[in-house]
Amino acid sequence: MTALLVASTNGRIGLPDAMAVLRGGGSAVDAVVAAIRPVEANPNDHSVGYGGLPNLVGEVELDASIMDGRTLATGAVGALRGYQDAILLARHVMEELPHVLIAGEGARRLAKEVGLTPVELLTDEARRIWRQRLDSVGGPDRAAYLDKVRDMVGRMSDDPELAADAHGTVNVIARDRSGNVACGVSTSGWAWKYPGRMGDSPIIGAGNYADTRAGAAACTGRGEMAQRCCTAHTVVTALRAGLPLDAALRAAAADLHALDDPYRGEVNIVAVDRDGNHLAVSTVPGKTYVFLRDEDDAVVEAERLHIPAES
Ligand code: GLY
Repeated sequence: MTALLVASTNGRIGLPDAMAVLRGGGSAVDAVVAAIRPVEANPNDHSVGYGGLPNLVGEVELDASIMDGRTLATGAVGALRGYQDAILLARHVMEELPHVLIAGEGARRLAKEVGLTPVELLTDEARRIWRQRLDSVGGPDRAAYLDKVRDMVGRMSDDPELAADAHGTVNVIARDRSGNVACGVSTSGWAWKYPGRMGDSPIIGAGNYADTRAGAAACTGRGEMAQRCCTAHTVVTALRAGLPLDAALRAAAADLHALDDPYRGEVNIVAVDRDGNHLAVSTVPGKTYVFLRDEDDAVVEAERLHIPAES
């Protein structure tokens, strides 16, 4: 079989290294980690890792997950503070713990135990963007505080430019030369989110799912919608049932469009089927994704299929 990498567009920078891993006989899981780590280290990507935009009180909290489609083994971390290597930590959860998801102080403790390097995740530029949009957090008054969260999330729903950094995420699906599929997702989550909020990225079935026998899918965008619809699992379940990739993605998008959500935002899905066909969709127009095949010399950027609400 030939190797394949498919990613959200901000995953572009990691794909050449990840393809080198696959061409060298590495596994799909190895490639997913190799692809995502440079994105987590990129200070100019304000949606993932170091330089990510912070929560309502100015703390950067990272979420990530990884799934091995050979075995359905998976690991995830949520609300991780002080370490940038969220995808690597998710792999540690998958391979070393009898658990799937470790959050908050537990994730930080695990990061220290496995020897990851602590990092101040909040850069000056991310602090500036965060501060520019935030006049106050409403002080200790709970009602004012919740109003502020709703206000910020509402503004992001209405303003695609603001939303781009504020709810971006990186998705990477890898297929190795043995035909095994793995999927990884990493994000700093919604900017200005309520502290401790986790979106779809660390929730297996919502933002990430992989089964070598059927395919894999991962999401970016408004995580609460993908959480409510189990979007990644919906795609893979449809593939298991024999639907073509296009129909599987349309079924998942139809579920998203049917939601009643006052904070509705875009949701984007990348997917691969068991034969290595790939496709990506978005609930909004003009979005792209990237891929790199064994036979390619350079990363290819392609348009996502736009699935509007009325389709
Ligand atoms: N999809 C990323 C998030 O909602 O946090």
